[in-house]
Amino acid sequence: MQKRARMKKKHNDKLDNWTVQDSIELYGIERWGEGLFTADKNGDVILRNQNGGQDINFQELVKEVRMRGFDLPVLIRITDILRNRIKQICGAFQNTMDEYKYKGEYRPVYPIKVNQHRHIIEDIITHGKEFHMGLECGSKAELLLAIAMRQDPDSLIICNGFKDMDYIEIALNARLMGYNIFLVVEKFSELNMILKAAKALKVEPLIGLRMKLATRGKGMWESSGGEKSKFGLRVNEIIEAISILKRQKKISCLKLLHFHIGSQVTDIHSISNAMKEAGTIFTEVYKLGAKLTHVDVGGGLAVDYDGSATNFASSANYNLKEYAANIIDAIMSACDAYEVPHPTIISETGRALVAHHSVLVVDVISTTESHENTTVPPIPKNTSEIVTHMKEVLDGFKGKNFQETYHEAIELRREGLMLFNLRHLSLKDRAIVEEIFWVICRRILNYIRELDYIPDDLEDLEHLFATTYICNFSLFQSLPDHWAVKQLFPIIPLHRLNEKPSRRAVLADITCDSDGVIDRFIDLRDVKDTLPLHPLNKGEAYCLGIFLVGAYQEILGDLHNLFGDTHVVHVSSSKDGYVIDKSVEGERIEDVMEYIQFTRGDLMARFRQRIEEALKRKAISLQDSAMLQRRFDDGLDTYTYLNANRE
Ligand SMILES: Cc1ncc(COP(=O)(O)O)c(C=O)c1O
Repeated sequence: MQKRARMKKKHNDKLDNWTVQDSIELYGIERWGEGLFTADKNGDVILRNQNGGQDINFQELVKEVRMRGFDLPVLIRITDILRNRIKQICGAFQNTMDEYKYKGEYRPVYPIKVNQHRHIIEDIITHGKEFHMGLECGSKAELLLAIAMRQDPDSLIICNGFKDMDYIEIALNARLMGYNIFLVVEKFSELNMILKAAKALKVEPLIGLRMKLATRGKGMWESSGGEKSKFGLRVNEIIEAISILKRQKKISCLKLLHFHIGSQVTDIHSISNAMKEAGTIFTEVYKLGAKLTHVDVGGGLAVDYDGSATNFASSANYNLKEYAANIIDAIMSACDAYEVPHPTIISETGRALVAHHSVLVVDVISTTESHENTTVPPIPKNTSEIVTHMKEVLDGFKGKNFQETYHEAIELRREGLMLFNLRHLSLKDRAIVEEIFWVICRRILNYIRELDYIPDDLEDLEHLFATTYICNFSLFQSLPDHWAVKQLFPIIPLHRLNEKPSRRAVLADITCDSDGVIDRFIDLRDVKDTLPLHPLNKGEAYCLGIFLVGAYQEILGDLHNLFGDTHVVHVSSSKDGYVIDKSVEGERIEDVMEYIQFTRGDLMARFRQRIEEALKRKAISLQDSAMLQRRFDDGLDTYTYLNANRE
């Protein structure tokens, strides 16, 4: 991942005149949120009113969700955002086609794998009806889902992914029923399987070929495209496929060319280059006798997670209009030049459709102390030389000499450790050396925070002084991409934005895994090591919102430490406020046990056996045994996350 120049933006640092606007800028809320989110004058994060409804205050919503018996963590899905994203994305294609006088049509298909949950697919089909929203599937299971869910006869089903005979026959049966269902050949051998099955079922298949473009995407998923990509046919295989289809008099079945250069394509140039190559192949294939009617440009439309509008991995250097315009223009120019009719353009946008509408709300359970409050300890009279030296370095710090001071302090600390290991330094003196070292570092940190540039060798200081905020969630269940590919998500406190966040934090989840931390955060020009947060107030909840988590996270999440699915609430705005349309209870301990083949009955039977043994040893009374059984039984019904309501 390319790193941008480390330059600091100065914020209003004076505690007394810190404003909500300072927080909005600090957290980049207006930049990454596509204008959806902001904060009110009390410092609460709100969702701006959608579709004529009212603003939604997240704190109030969370309070109400809690009153309904749902503890945090809770995933909030905002239906209005989903509906608007469908309108914006499909509208961008539709409007650009009208503007360019494009003669073909636009058909979106939603790639089920991006978030397969029933309510999301139902919402997408309902709200995408005006654009004839179809579905893309990549496996037999997804195919069955797509077939069952299709309602609009003008919508398409695109069958991607590796296929066996069962997959192909199921799709062809749907074709027999009149579905517009395309079987896209991902590897060469699938073509003969499709032709054989179609012959046996006496059905004319709609065949697509996935092209292996030489052009690669740009971003974390760029290996999905290019010569070495896992899927698709090389140009020689495309030519061979055409001759097979001609020989079998089935060339009229070849209707579609498809490509996908990867998800989260950050650079518009990658898209326009891929489109140029695809447009050329499209017209060449047409000239070879395949009267193609559809071009499928795959997914890849990126989400600007950090709001920087750059080609950085968490961003995108283009907007929706530019994306649609590049695609339509490239196809149109290629077709017009070779007098090929404009095809229907299919896009398989997933991430950009669903990412924005989900927010994970987590509560901070506690914080761990950092070196922030370390003070200079009393120094004994006959202390060791190294302690005296360290104290001199501290006294000699004048601000400007921060780099020299830092190097000296590091060297002395190293020497101290060496002397300690050789038993030339007592444990007490070692502790004094360490404490003075941290005081020096903190003073240096306070000084360099005011500078415009931080020298490379001092970059880690901020991280060393970070306070760890322990949050009630599992990174592996709710943000797997942060763990797996270091994907960044905007994270902000949902309240107190009228206060200056005086702590620098890293976040730790509640799994017993040292990887369960978030120590990389979005920034305008770089990746931040720490997140500015507020100190916890006694007896008061502190809630964080993790935004733009609607794509991939829910379904890729796993059961590490047996933390299961979180509660989910579906919210929409109305003139009178917001409405909780649906709520889906998160997994209980019994549910996650079932994944690993432990039934409630089996666990209870085993526990009863342990109780009998304890009774026999007289370790517990009969009364205890009844209570223990009840607690175990009740425990199986509880949410897998921490219950922050009990001390
Ligand atoms: C074939 C195919 N189509 C569509 C998508 C969805 O891509 P995105 O979520 O970036 O829009 C993917 C995901 O990588 C894919 O593999």
